[in-house]
Amino acid sequence: MSQAKPPIYVTQPDLPPLEEFLPYLRKIWDSRVLTNGGPFHQQLEAELASYLGVKHISLFTNATIALVTALQSLRITGEVITTPYSFVATAHSLLWNGIKPVFVDIDPETFNMDPARIEAAITPQTTAIMPLHCYGRPCDVEAIQRIADDYNLKVIYDAAHAFGVQHEGQSVLCHGDLSVLSFHATKVFNTFEGGAIISPDARTKQHIDHLKNFGFVNETTVVATGINGKMSEFNAALGLLQLKHVDQAISRRGAIARLYRELLSGVRGISLPVPPADPASANDAYFPILVEADFPVSRDALYQQMKEEGLNGRRYFHPLISEFPMYRGLPSASNALLPVAKSVSSRVICLPIYPSLSDEDVRRVAGLIRQTAGQALTQPEPVHP
Ligand SMILES: Cc1ncc(COP(=O)(O)O)c(C=O)c1O
Repeated sequence: MSQAKPPIYVTQPDLPPLEEFLPYLRKIWDSRVLTNGGPFHQQLEAELASYLGVKHISLFTNATIALVTALQSLRITGEVITTPYSFVATAHSLLWNGIKPVFVDIDPETFNMDPARIEAAITPQTTAIMPLHCYGRPCDVEAIQRIADDYNLKVIYDAAHAFGVQHEGQSVLCHGDLSVLSFHATKVFNTFEGGAIISPDARTKQHIDHLKNFGFVNETTVVATGINGKMSEFNAALGLLQLKHVDQAISRRGAIARLYRELLSGVRGISLPVPPADPASANDAYFPILVEADFPVSRDALYQQMKEEGLNGRRYFHPLISEFPMYRGLPSASNALLPVAKSVSSRVICLPIYPSLSDEDVRRVAGLIRQTAGQALTQPEPVHP
């Protein structure tokens, strides 16, 4: 009797072998240094800066607090131009600072903020732009910087998806005034929970480091209304170990993405985003597909059908941030002004992708989609000994 296959999810956190982590834990137990910039924290900052090819990095407890702090560090006020096609934390970080988000539409190919829409959204209150490198794909960083320079605006990238991504031979995290990474369990590189801010110079990093430690500059002096954003030694130790395995993890993601492409290209009614010309500009953090009008069933019906088979995709990002109750009253949140974001949000499904996903499971997911399209995969001939 054939047994039901175990469900698979859109992602599964990547973990190193437990035995490899135990020596790190022993060191923490021996030293009793649990947090406040301990040795693992310092070592992870140094190793990440070198791995990512950036100058200065400040570790955080998560990316949301890092985004809030990044805005504080540059004293951003008034209005910030951002994308509706992101995880809600991007815009929440603005509201936590009393800043008004101004949404602009996205590019239909990259799903990143469309630079051609930015200028029309600038007002005398605009102080910054907060774009997302969506699914890890670099924004048009040059166009965004030109506009920022012309209007004297800061640029803070939500780079939560962009771990290890290069742009024109350099880390994409070197662009803009600051970039914020997430090391959440679901991300390409995880420390269970965690995040970081990439700064261009030592002074900015030092200010950010004060802000993430309540504003303390020494034992008795508090210079700003800081917060507790410090990464613990446990998370930092895990990060050091994860870093040893991350190249392998990214390369497995690449292989899964290539297999999906092979199996799904040419399926009627399914669009696959065009990969960037430079493979170093992709980390395959996500594998989005678009379910078009000529697919036999709707996006939501396909999503449900997959779920019933235990093949859990995710409608990411749906709804748009601009559709959530705290944003939908804003003038820039009207769907009429965001037709591309709305259209992508109504068509997208992110397919399961994570390093331990087997080729067989990729074939199950692609097979179901092809079957629904009436283009079932041909079964390989059984092999007889
Ligand atoms: C685009 C984006 N921004 C911000 C965040 C927030 O990150 P964190 O969970 O580390 O706070 C996430 C993910 O969780 C994200 O996907």
